[in-house]
Amino acid sequence: MALADASSSLATPDVSTGAAAATAPSLEAFWMPFTPNRKFKRAPQLIAGSEGLYYDMVGGRRVLDAIAGLWCVNAGHRNPRISAALKAQIDTLDYASSFQMGHTGAFALASRLGDLAPGDLNHVFFTNSGSESVDTALKIALAYHRARGDAGRYRLIGRERSYHGVSFGSISVGGIGRQRSTFGPLLNGVDHLPHTHDLARNAFSRGEPAFGVEKADALEALLTLHDPSTVAAVIVEPVAGSTGVLVPPVGYLKRLREICSKHGVLLILDEVITGFGRVGARFASDLFGVVPDIITTAKGLTNGAVPMGAVLVSDRVHQAFMRGSEDSVELLHGYTYSGHPLACAAAMATLDCYIEDGLFDQAAALSPYFEDALHSLKDLPGVIDIRNIGMLAGVELATRDGSVGNHAQAVTQQCLARNVLVRPVGDTIALSPPFTFTRGHVDEVIDTLRASILAVADAAPR
Ligand SMILES: Cc1ncc(COP(=O)(O)O)c(C=O)c1O
Repeated sequence: MALADASSSLATPDVSTGAAAATAPSLEAFWMPFTPNRKFKRAPQLIAGSEGLYYDMVGGRRVLDAIAGLWCVNAGHRNPRISAALKAQIDTLDYASSFQMGHTGAFALASRLGDLAPGDLNHVFFTNSGSESVDTALKIALAYHRARGDAGRYRLIGRERSYHGVSFGSISVGGIGRQRSTFGPLLNGVDHLPHTHDLARNAFSRGEPAFGVEKADALEALLTLHDPSTVAAVIVEPVAGSTGVLVPPVGYLKRLREICSKHGVLLILDEVITGFGRVGARFASDLFGVVPDIITTAKGLTNGAVPMGAVLVSDRVHQAFMRGSEDSVELLHGYTYSGHPLACAAAMATLDCYIEDGLFDQAAALSPYFEDALHSLKDLPGVIDIRNIGMLAGVELATRDGSVGNHAQAVTQQCLARNVLVRPVGDTIALSPPFTFTRGHVDEVIDTLRASILAVADAAPR
């Protein structure tokens, strides 16, 4: 089956003028992120439009989006509420700086996020992405200890197999070897907890796996190794997303919280994927019963319609900055587009969808059906694990020919050929459907995945 359906009218640029010859662009200039550019451009999959749960591909195919764009379009594509809010906003206020000025939308959104957030995380710093949220959180953590006169706390602790984005701060605390080695040296004073993935004991767990709470004790060991009074913060994803959908073992996050509190270390939970209903609660922090000191968010905050991130900060951490002269800037940090009016409008409308239109509830209600459907794939050839929590799931496939990723790539291509978009992360097929999925859509995705896994198994050399 032909996988590529890009329009044949894609033009080559006129080399003498640099201008595109026809209306369609050349593919050459766009250096695509996290993409094997040359391979993609040989058989491009180009998207022309979107509606609800579907992408419309150039060439006319409709593809069911089982990954919410990139774990972000939780309320479905071109959600009418969000589109209307954006149209109204662009005709009212296009841009306003948040540096020593401000517009009402940013204050209103921050208040609403503070109300939504767990515990006393009542203060909000706006960014434009998950990476920026992580950098911001790390900087707040370091500056917090300085503001308290405890400048000796400079170390940061991340975790193996974690993804926190692409900034230098993010990759320093991140736990993906290749991402780190390509760009090192990175931040000093960073160490990592072991990851929690344990196929031998936890394969095919539903929700939180039973085994592995003791992996949190590695934090005590690291703190002892480095001297706890030198450590500023620990950052983990509650559920690691991009490294394979790794759900934490029962009790793990609570134990991290206890150890952090005992030693005066801040706990940052990176909820860029897990925030805003993805795991069946507003935040994973709520689901796992843990109140961190800082939460990082992005993605589902605006339904992906406009780039935005938000860092949610506890009263205690915020209060440490609100001292001294009122003339001085409390945190020397910010982005030109922090609290951008369009992003604020998109986020407000997105929260309306989640809360007033009941999408948080819809996602939570669909989760058990999604779980049962997923686990029906258990006995297929090459399936070595299935993990799920809320509307987030991973189907792990056996690595073939010693080349991590090839198996999941092949299955993903088969799914796409059958008009369903899934995401390969290593050899795990990740699923994170929009919350507007119905049982019928779940069935379609699972049937497609089954057929695709079988097709790849049939084609494998024996
Ligand atoms: C947990 C987590 N943190 C941070 C990021 C980085 O977000 P962005 O790509 O918006 O910078 C991601 C992106 O997938 C993520 O999954």
